[in-house]
Amino acid sequence: MKPNPCLNIKSLIGIALLGAGGTFTLTGWSQDAGDSPTITPRAMADALHMVMDSDRAVYTRRIVNRLAAKEKVITASEHFEDEKALVLPAQMFRFGAEMVAERAEANPDVNFSYSLQSIWPINKQNAPQTEAEKTGLQFVVDNKGQNYYATEELGGVNYFTAVYADTAVAPVCASCHNDHKDSPRTDFKIGDVMGGVVIRIPIE
Ligand code: HEC
Repeated sequence: MKPNPCLNIKSLIGIALLGAGGTFTLTGWSQDAGDSPTITPRAMADALHMVMDSDRAVYTRRIVNRLAAKEKVITASEHFEDEKALVLPAQMFRFGAEMVAERAEANPDVNFSYSLQSIWPINKQNAPQTEAEKTGLQFVVDNKGQNYYATEELGGVNYFTAVYADTAVAPVCASCHNDHKDSPRTDFKIGDVMGGVVIRIPIE
């Protein structure tokens, strides 16, 4: 059941891109289990992060900012069902992560997980749990521009864990969090690292 430490990038990128609806091919990657080229967990995590981060930026810019901020035809709200609004980018991200978790459970060959977390979370569900998550989220706050990589053992399984900074790229990132009743921190400003994306990949 234990997956190969070097995973097949084609199937993983394919899964990651299903949500984006994009067409994407990597030539030269065989899907034959025996002789397929392999990549390191770090390269795989970096590639997955690039897809996640781009999808979130596209949703923010092309959907939320265009329709809510610019055209004002619909709002974006945490209470999107009650208010018939767009989901927030962070919620969109979490829903995707939750669907991947469900699908990965049914398919151990693509057994990885990811989440958007913070040491100052609005949603307590997004607080770090493991030592690597806690250390990594603090590291990306203290070392701007750097990612954090570690291995950790959880429940008898070894994992490669990567943490990527999530930065307040617009004033509204800071102001919405600062004004939110559940935010434990109220002095975010533009350019601050507000949290991080955690990607965890099982290794042997
Ligand atoms: C309109 C309000 C709003 C805006 C704008 C906003 N966020 Fe959030 N953010 C939230 C809410 C609400 C959550 C909790 C979502 C959930 O339920 O998982 C959240 C979650 C997060 C999290 C996960 C930790 C936590 O606080 O739960 C991070 C990190 C984060 N946002 C960063 C950002 C960044 C960076 C930006 C700008 C690019 C941004 N947010 C813009 C409201 C906002």
